[in-house]
Amino acid sequence: MTQTMTQTTIEPPKHIPVLPEAVCSFLAPENRTVRRIVDGTVGYGGHSALLLERLPQAELLGLDRDEDALAAARERLSFARGRVHLVHSDYSRMADRAAALGWDTVDAVLLDVGVSSRQIDEADRGFSFRFSDAPLDMRMDRSAGRTAADLVNHLPEEELSVIFRDYGEIREARRLARRIVELRQTKPFNTCGDLAAVCDEILGGFHRRGGRKGPPAPTLAFQALRIAVNRELDELREGLQRAVELLAPGGRMAVISFHSLEDRIVKNFIRDMAMNCKCPPGTPVCICSWRAVLTPLTKKPVEADERELAANPRAACAKLRAAEKL
Ligand SMILES: C[S@@+](CC[C@H](N)C(=O)[O-])C[C@H]1O[C@@H](n2cnc3c(N)ncnc32)[C@H](O)[C@@H]1O
Repeated sequence: MTQTMTQTTIEPPKHIPVLPEAVCSFLAPENRTVRRIVDGTVGYGGHSALLLERLPQAELLGLDRDEDALAAARERLSFARGRVHLVHSDYSRMADRAAALGWDTVDAVLLDVGVSSRQIDEADRGFSFRFSDAPLDMRMDRSAGRTAADLVNHLPEEELSVIFRDYGEIREARRLARRIVELRQTKPFNTCGDLAAVCDEILGGFHRRGGRKGPPAPTLAFQALRIAVNRELDELREGLQRAVELLAPGGRMAVISFHSLEDRIVKNFIRDMAMNCKCPPGTPVCICSWRAVLTPLTKKPVEADERELAANPRAACAKLRAAEKL
């Protein structure tokens, strides 16, 4: 059953960037000149700090939807003042943000997508069912958009069901959505505890997968709503496209994702952009105008090794894929 923790926050661990060596080896290799970098998810500045240290000539444009993260990044990256531009923005708008600096191309783009561990550990952000009294918010950008409570209290049953099915891969998605709609007629959902309770009731305390006990019941429902609230998958598709357009020939992109829905989007995107023809099989002569714009640099995603996992267990789900613009 869901724990009911009423404390306001968990002491945030110092943010440790995931897969630091892989990020540096793809985006800051010794034999290349890198002058302009976009970090589309600057977060607490961990990866940006590493890149700026390795590349003392480079300038970095760091974007984040979360004003608190930007404030932390500003402090962390103060050693490189004059070379760092931090902007409150979705990464899907990276081209506009780069243009505002007079940059029409860049040499490297990093996306480390999803929420940060700090966001999850801050009770008042409403990302975690561990904080039962926390408001059901889940917005990375607290200045815009609909909260999770708003979606849960107002979306039609069918839409809620699709969110739980597609973004949470919850087998009982339909039953869960139906029960939420029943309950909200008498009392709206306001807190993380309200949502966790209905997940416990319908899913029986744990998700079950292949007959085995899975994660605690609310985990996947919270993940599904978070993805919907922040339009995470649409942002990723749009951001990947903008990154390719913005890269100079020979420029590189690296994308770190944390669950299979995101990794599939990245994998398919790089595969598509590396194809030289998209005509249906058997077409005698190519009639499409599709030409490769990327070379993949990773056949399989790079994952954390044992040493990194021992120091940073949260790296366990991270997968990095990289590609170079032709
Ligand atoms: C995993 S953290 C990044 C951590 C960072 N690489 C570091 O080393 O500190 C992800 C960050 O991306 C931000 N973010 C997620 N989606 C975004 C989007 N579409 N546009 C801008 N920022 C986004 C989140 O607010 C969060 O701060």
